[in-house]
Amino acid sequence: MKEIMTKTVLITGASKGIGFALTRQFLTNGYKVIGTNRTGEIENLAHPNFEILKLDLSDETTINEFEKLFEQKNIKLDILINNAGIGPDLDTLKPEKESFKQTFDVNVIGTVFFTELLCRSVNVGGKIINISSKMGSIELCERTDSVAYRMSKTALNMYSKILTNRLLDKQTIATIHPGWVRTTIAKDNIVNGRLSTDESAFKIFNFVTSNFETGIFWDIEAETKTEW
Ligand SMILES: NC(=O)c1ccc[n+]([C@@H]2O[C@H](COP(=O)([O-])OP(=O)(O)OC[C@H]3O[C@@H](n4cnc5c(N)ncnc54)[C@H](OP(=O)(O)O)[C@@H]3O)[C@@H](O)[C@H]2O)c1
Repeated sequence: MKEIMTKTVLITGASKGIGFALTRQFLTNGYKVIGTNRTGEIENLAHPNFEILKLDLSDETTINEFEKLFEQKNIKLDILINNAGIGPDLDTLKPEKESFKQTFDVNVIGTVFFTELLCRSVNVGGKIINISSKMGSIELCERTDSVAYRMSKTALNMYSKILTNRLLDKQTIATIHPGWVRTTIAKDNIVNGRLSTDESAFKIFNFVTSNFETGIFWDIEAETKTEW
């Protein structure tokens, strides 16, 4: 009988919001999921194919420990999904230094250096997905709010582009806008978000497991390519 290989996906920020729904989506579809959050503990999800590991993207030590563990156990990934992200200045008008720093530490510096280490563990032919936002699009921007959050996602978009150029013929890269989703990332989202976490995760799963062209920036809600 032909052996069916279980594929492994790593999802950062798996404890709540989109990452949590995405974790359940991949598990339901037979994947092995390695999830991360800052405590390394998750109460509401137990599954034989699920493992939760500690990762704080604003703390270099946890990123390095994470990499060591991957090397020791020789873990290989089919898909890496950089989902963890924060938005402490979402819906505020004036940039403020502390939240600016926090945002860049997690959404940009942490995500970039985590990916630099972890992309070695992604199989050739595998995928690297960055969960960004249309709020980072220079082309579409008509607003003046959420300066740090918007700029952090613009920076992440550029990193996706650079990864695409560097990893051409090795891994497939996509940048995703997950829609306006009802999560606790900002007060407005909980009230006005157009998608539930399950709806967003379902569409993300379908896109990520499809054959997309490397370097694409995909809007999950509109199901189209979107402007950088
Ligand atoms: N919701 C939306 O409408 C929307 C729209 C566009 C883009 N996005 C993007 O989608 C992604 C997920 O957003 P969400 O709305 O699901 O957010 P969320 O509900 O606030 O979840 C964020 C996740 O990131 C983790 N996290 C927070 N700080 C971290 C850190 N320092 N290091 C590592 N992990 C950390 C959290 O885990 P712990 O707190 O347990 O550590 C949590 O699992 C983000 O990148 C966000 O920018 C969301």
